[in-house]
Amino acid sequence: MNKNVKVFAPASVSNVGCGFDILGFAIDGIGDEMILSKNDLNKMIIKPIEGYENLPTEPSKNVAGVAIQALLDDLGSNQGFDIEIKKHIKPGSGIGSSSASAAGAVVAANELLGKPYSRKELVYFAMQGEVAASGDAHADNAAPTVLGGFCIVRAYDPLDVIQIESPKNLWCVVIHPQIEIKTKEARELLSPKVDLKKAIRQWGNVAGLISGLHQSDYNLIGRSLEDHIVEQQRKVLIPEFNNLKQAVLKAGALGCSISGSGPSVFALCEGEDKAKAVSSAMDKVFSKTTIPYFIYVSQVSNNGVRILE
Ligand code: HSE
Repeated sequence: MNKNVKVFAPASVSNVGCGFDILGFAIDGIGDEMILSKNDLNKMIIKPIEGYENLPTEPSKNVAGVAIQALLDDLGSNQGFDIEIKKHIKPGSGIGSSSASAAGAVVAANELLGKPYSRKELVYFAMQGEVAASGDAHADNAAPTVLGGFCIVRAYDPLDVIQIESPKNLWCVVIHPQIEIKTKEARELLSPKVDLKKAIRQWGNVAGLISGLHQSDYNLIGRSLEDHIVEQQRKVLIPEFNNLKQAVLKAGALGCSISGSGPSVFALCEGEDKAKAVSSAMDKVFSKTTIPYFIYVSQVSNNGVRILE
């Protein structure tokens, strides 16, 4: 059995427009790296986190620590781990920063323990990290980060996750303005009530999006990338959101919405050329602001956490 396991945990886009808390996908190109090894101390030791030194290293407050503890409790084990985290995904980015750490941690720990759990089972433990980060258990980032592709969370109790491979030519462009939006606060902003007429449109879009993904029907994917419930309430948090969306759709994106709880905004595109055009359109809008930003262009990744060595 390996003494060290190094993993890459990808970023992810959750909600995907119409699927608040039930839909997400993994993206390539940006993610966290983690190295785990077993220790004989019966406790977790999280080293100062490279990239974001202010993040808590106390296991009970760190999403990776909380996720591993959930796994160990279920297994009835008190195995200790040394944990190194190289964070590349900024916390509060809307592209699954906390999920990447939690998912990477449970995949690596599971590997070192001789794989007692399947990938699908690990989603539940990764999701416990989200509780530490946002006060709420949602798996729409954790599931695609662990499993890859698009993931539907059909039910939470008990957790029932369905994975769908992404159509081959589906590309994603994400703009990440360098401001922080705390998921907890962005959730508190939402009305707990949903208007029935809006809910009906939303259900139609979720069904259309899933069918579009299965059939690689890019037009149907585009028509279904609409959110009538959450986007309206949250877009006030995101500078230039309306201008960005307008520019991105004009440049040929299939659709565009807030990534997770923001501030990142994503667009899905058919093909790399369209994705590049959409990236330029985002750049043009945001370069007029004083807010620093990054833009990522990537295929939707069918890989979740990857074991590097
Ligand atoms: N579905 C969650 C939300 C994702 O939008 O609050 C947060 O990362």
